[in-house]
Amino acid sequence: MEGLTLLSLLLPLLLFDTGDAKYEPNWKSIDSRPSPEWFDQAKFGIFIHWGVFSVPSFGSEWFWYYWQRNKVQVYVDFMKKNYPPDFKYQDFAPYFTAEFFNAKKWTDIFASSGAKYIVLTTKHHEGFTMWGSKTSWNWNAVDVGPKRDLVDEVATALRANSDLRLGLYHSLFEWFNPLYEQDAANKFKTNYFPTSKTLPELYELILKYKPEVLWSDGDGDAPDTYWNSTGFLAWLYNDSPVRDTVVTNDRWGYGSICNHGGYYTCSDRYQPGHLIKHKWENCMSIDRRSWGYRREAPLSDYLSIEQLVATLVETVSCGGNLLLNVGPTHDGRIAPIYEERLRQVGQWLKVNGEAIFNTTAWRAQNDSITPHIWYTSKPQEKAIFAMMLEWPSNGTVILHEPVVTQGQTQVVLLGVGTLPWQPLNPSGGLTVLLPPLPFSQMPCQWAWTLKLTGAA
Ligand SMILES: *[C@@H]1O[C@H](CO)[C@@H](O)[C@H](O)[C@H]1NC(C)=O
Ligand SMILES: *[C@@H]1O[C@H](CO)[C@@H](O)[C@H](O)[C@H]1NC(C)=O
Ligand SMILES: *[C@@H]1O[C@H](CO)[C@@H](O)[C@H](O)[C@H]1NC(C)=O
Ligand SMILES: *[C@@H]1O[C@H](CO)[C@@H](O)[C@H](O)[C@H]1NC(C)=O
Repeated sequence: MEGLTLLSLLLPLLLFDTGDAKYEPNWKSIDSRPSPEWFDQAKFGIFIHWGVFSVPSFGSEWFWYYWQRNKVQVYVDFMKKNYPPDFKYQDFAPYFTAEFFNAKKWTDIFASSGAKYIVLTTKHHEGFTMWGSKTSWNWNAVDVGPKRDLVDEVATALRANSDLRLGLYHSLFEWFNPLYEQDAANKFKTNYFPTSKTLPELYELILKYKPEVLWSDGDGDAPDTYWNSTGFLAWLYNDSPVRDTVVTNDRWGYGSICNHGGYYTCSDRYQPGHLIKHKWENCMSIDRRSWGYRREAPLSDYLSIEQLVATLVETVSCGGNLLLNVGPTHDGRIAPIYEERLRQVGQWLKVNGEAIFNTTAWRAQNDSITPHIWYTSKPQEKAIFAMMLEWPSNGTVILHEPVVTQGQTQVVLLGVGTLPWQPLNPSGGLTVLLPPLPFSQMPCQWAWTLKLTGAA
């Protein structure tokens, strides 16, 4: 009798636990969620930093902060020289015109890069929302500037014209929001700002645009308890319309980076050079000095296609995804230098995508002796990929890591065909003889892949 009473008391709790509230609002539970498989398979995404900072398009997307808070001299001088003395940052917003913005054209460029997802800034630390947010008045793209819902246009065009998945970037804090400043003055013992601004925005973004990546940023030196991050994430994982496929990153409050949440981003341009077991992403920008568009950038500040391919290869070999940033202009263009780089990555992936997409980190990330060789693998196909960032000048390359077997091991140069090889020594390794191809018959121009089967 007593046992039955206990069971009938426990039953609803058990049902509740295995049903609605699968994840609880604490890090132990949130961190236990497996990363949705699509994200690890995707490997490559495009980051887009666009906002009011694209109007001055000078220095960095941190323009407002460097000018008004840090009073960095080049920013102060830039304003003095080019604008009336009473010009405020807010006065830039009407010049955020986006008259050449065409989301279909953007989608075509993103798709041509071979990327599998994008991440668009919906609100950077300046606080300007790129959609008609319910909690924004006259500091959003529908009320001022383009007078268009830019997030909706990107999301709609992406879904209508590509297989790319939608990701949204959102900054928790806003540099100069008075409610945030009030909470900060109260040492984050009050939470006026997250409850009236940040959290409503996050729920609105998820419900309205159903992104499959939510890229959080800007903890404002406040703990995750102030932002109610685990409360929001429990809702996201249990009850939101994207609960099965959404991935998030690790920027959810002071100390959570590289520690809690979804995949790790650790630091901007994170490139560990060795295998990281927890899923991670290297976010970096084609312009090495800024995420937002910069009119004054010289050619030498844009990474070359050789550098970008090398970064993609190294990142994927070490278990990461690459999130490659472009900064569109205030009038909605993706400048030809960015477009060219994205299309070049796409050309390279057309030949070598087999060694990138859906791969798993191999037991060795790069060759132990021959430099500039990075490995990936596809266990289901029993394939090992060796990506060479340089074409060997004497026509042979030595791979020291793979263990080969005569009569079993096959070596294929992707885009060309089967190549002859010789064992290096009994314990492993091989020498591959590369064909003397004329330049016009090279399968690609910036890095080459050897696919090994029947090797271990
Ligand atoms: C934190 O999030 C949870 C889950 O969404 C919610 O129930 C709770 O009311 C939130 N707390 C605050 C202070 O906003
Ligand atoms: C990767 O794997 C997924 C799921 O198994 C599949 O749908 C997709 O076509 C694969 N992509 C590539 C590029 O092989
Ligand atoms: C392999 O990569 C690591 C990390 O980047 C580097 O330190 C090492 O020199 C590389 N090995 C070779 C042989 O280039
Ligand atoms: C080609 O160069 C590599 C390293 O530069 C060297 O180890 C190898 O012996 C050379 N092969 C031939 C056939 O000269």
